Amino acid sequence: MDTPRTVEPHVAAGGSGLVGAMTAAAPEPEVEGFADDTAVDALADASTAAGSAPHRVGAPEPAPLTEHGPARIIAVANQKGGVGKTTSTINLGAALAEYGRKVLLVDFDPQGALSVGLGVQPHQLETTIYNLLMERGVEAEDVIQPTNVPNMDLLPSNIDLSAAEVQLVTEVGREQALGRALKRILGNYDVVLIDCQPSLGLLTINALACADQVLIPLACEFFSLRGVALLMDTIDKVKDRLNPDLELVGILATMFDARTLHTREVHQRVIEAFGDKVFDAVINRTIRFPETTVAGEPITTWAPMSSGAQAYRMLAREVIAR
Ligand SMILES: Nc1ncnc2c1ncn2[C@@H]1O[C@H](COP(=O)(O)OP(=O)(O)OP(=O)(O)O)[C@@H](O)[C@H]1O
Ligand SMILES: [Mg+2]
Repeated sequence: MDTPRTVEPHVAAGGSGLVGAMTAAAPEPEVEGFADDTAVDALADASTAAGSAPHRVGAPEPAPLTEHGPARIIAVANQKGGVGKTTSTINLGAALAEYGRKVLLVDFDPQGALSVGLGVQPHQLETTIYNLLMERGVEAEDVIQPTNVPNMDLLPSNIDLSAAEVQLVTEVGREQALGRALKRILGNYDVVLIDCQPSLGLLTINALACADQVLIPLACEFFSLRGVALLMDTIDKVKDRLNPDLELVGILATMFDARTLHTREVHQRVIEAFGDKVFDAVINRTIRFPETTVAGEPITTWAPMSSGAQAYRMLAREVIAR
């Protein structure tokens, strides 16, 4: 695969100088720290009433499934760091599982943050996705473990995975290693979510090459749209050369802070650029998410009635409907 070109964002084509507009305006001073959930909810509701916050339509309650599989694979990708990929993978997965979907979460980042977020200590693992990718005779069933969330399993990773990226380079079919590894177990699940690392390297290409769809979390912050064009370009190349059926399932606005005009402006720009590809569900910035990492469980079980849990349930309904 070629090194992706750096291109001017084609997302800017629809709006007038989207990224330029985003980078030219001076940022308003950020409010320090996090708001508590209630305050954020109140503000979000107030600004919705004023007509300035996201218009949330959502999707209906999904019908229960009578049979399971074969899974649809969704890669959660954005080469920008800290935009909520791992948080969204865990919580979307948990919300889909609540709706009776059988879910497999694939930790495809050598940092192992997804595994940690589900209470698994990556350095204590004997087998990880690395062994599945690189060793003959290791099957997905040998590595997959259940989580505390019913209907949700985990394919964990740790730092060993960084070696796979190097070792795969010389292999035939290096871009399809993950697809080959997952093939046999797709019948056991309805949805497989792959948490990608913040890069457009070979691991992310592997995820895109085997995925049916990509979900892009985008933080409602300055510079968040920078790099999205490169990501779209990479998705297009993977579609052309490796996986013609790959499609964008949607863009998820994360780190939304209803207290700042800035965050609402960025969200508006994202909608102008991507239209109905933007999910109606919007993830507020709240301390509840870092707390869940410490707790090692999804927000849907840690704080089931919180706005964060409700937002990921809304996202799950939209994903099921798309
Ligand atoms: N909506 C949110 N509000 C507040 N904090 C959040 C939110 N979502 C995620 N976080 C926190 O922000 C940090 C980065 O989130 P996360 O790990 O999900 O991003 P990521 O895109 O996976 O990062 P990386 O690129 O490093 O893999 C974490 O500490 C997480 O707890
Ligand atoms: Mg991550």
